[in-house]
Amino acid sequence: MAKNNNNNIFKASWTYDEAPESIDHIQIKEQYDLYIDGKFTKPIKGKYFDTINPSNGEKIANIAEASSEDVDKAVKAARKAFKGWAALSGKERGKYIFRIARLIQERAREFAVIESLDGGKPIRESRDIDIPLAANHFFYYAGWADKLEYAFPNRDPKPLGVVGQIIPWNFPLLMAAWKLAPALATGNTVVLKPAETTSLTALKLAEIIHESGIPKGVVNIVTGAGETGASIVNHSDVNKIAFTGSTGVGKYIQKATAGTNKKLTLELGGKGANIIFEDASIDQAVEGIVNAIFFNQGHVCCAGSRLFIQESVADLVIEKLKRRMETLIVGNPLDKNTDIGAINSKKQLKTIENYIKIGINEGGEIYQPECKFPTQGNWCAPTLFLNVSQSHRIVQEEIFGPVLAVQTFRTIDEVIEKANNTPYGLSAGVWTEKGSKIFHLTQKLNAGVIWGNTFNKFDATSPFGGYKESGFGREGGLHGLKPYVKFE
Ligand code: NAI
Ligand code: MG
Repeated sequence: MAKNNNNNIFKASWTYDEAPESIDHIQIKEQYDLYIDGKFTKPIKGKYFDTINPSNGEKIANIAEASSEDVDKAVKAARKAFKGWAALSGKERGKYIFRIARLIQERAREFAVIESLDGGKPIRESRDIDIPLAANHFFYYAGWADKLEYAFPNRDPKPLGVVGQIIPWNFPLLMAAWKLAPALATGNTVVLKPAETTSLTALKLAEIIHESGIPKGVVNIVTGAGETGASIVNHSDVNKIAFTGSTGVGKYIQKATAGTNKKLTLELGGKGANIIFEDASIDQAVEGIVNAIFFNQGHVCCAGSRLFIQESVADLVIEKLKRRMETLIVGNPLDKNTDIGAINSKKQLKTIENYIKIGINEGGEIYQPECKFPTQGNWCAPTLFLNVSQSHRIVQEEIFGPVLAVQTFRTIDEVIEKANNTPYGLSAGVWTEKGSKIFHLTQKLNAGVIWGNTFNKFDATSPFGGYKESGFGREGGLHGLKPYVKFE
């Protein structure tokens, strides 16, 4: 098998039996209410919306839609809880956060299945990445809660007050953890809104938070779409907004908070450059390219969606990449063999398909392996575009799907210029045997995170965030505490 270089035989010899993760151990209610002031509460206007399984289009549950009145209730609860929570010793606050982390670990399997059901990502990813990392974030920031004086020596950090947090649908539980853990560790109270297509794990998290015994009102979770998010942003008694999502909504939030006293951090889109030098270990780099763009169906703000290959190895890399793409399994997110799951929503699928059309119309050469999709649900084949240049829209704009734009380069200076020629500045990857080249590029590339001989690696201790239109502020690590404190 390993010696076999013939593409077709290679492909034909890899067949897998289905290996679906069981779902009989999970608990999903028919209806989810808002979590406000330590209670699950019905929305004042009585409105609910469906949450859908994107791999078959079936409804999973009813989710409450929070109106501005509900948001106001949540903010008031958070305000009432703030004094007591902020006055608690860091050690006591830490205990609750540790408890939340442990409860996530205990229920990790259930969380992983629900994340894949509601959002469409492969179970291998939710099981091995999203859920463990979410628990890690709570563990990590629980550890800081009683050590803030060491994080900010001689500066006496104080919490900001009530923070509003709005998160996207690509890493639902993980983004909730990124937002909640540092805010709580520093003594703030929170109103958090998950994205409308993926509310379930945030609501399961609300159950865990409740179980942790944390004082009521410290964490409030309100569900709904953009309007609910806007009610949080525009509420006059919110001290800070933390947002992760599209650059468009980020700009709107920046305008809406300008001239107010609200602090703001934005983690927005990206168009990450993944750069392969001729001296790189090519097979390893091909794996890295696949991981950079096809991880989580490409719904990743820091995805390596622009590939730059040094000209001398371009043919080889592209040939190996195509062959590797033929082995990727697209399908049931709950199957442990699946590499690429369902596209998160019909709306996002349309966006991606539209970009593929634009790429073709602009003269890009498309490559997609043959894929057999399930009959229901939202699917997109892993896609390459060759023969594109800097001016193509699919090279400039964030697609947020499994679509990779490939270019070549000759010199280091050329690739630095091309990589930086984008309105974004979130991530980049460099593949080379030479450490000095990696260090040179980390100085020159305008991106918040630069990976050397790897891609899409995350750790609770490591700061993450962007430049330019990718936003500002950092999450993770010591840096991630700073947006949640003030110094008087
Ligand atoms: P979005 O930015 O609309 O959604 C993110 C969050 O913002 C959701 O919770 C949403 O309910 C909320 N939101 C929407 N409008 C709001 C408003 N006016 N005020 C406050 N909150 C608001 O993203 P969407 O429409 O789901 O995706 C569109 C594109 O955005 C994607 O194709 C992708 O390119 C990009 N995106 C980027 C993300 C990233 O992490 N960089 C995450 C999600 C989307
Ligand atoms: Mg859903």
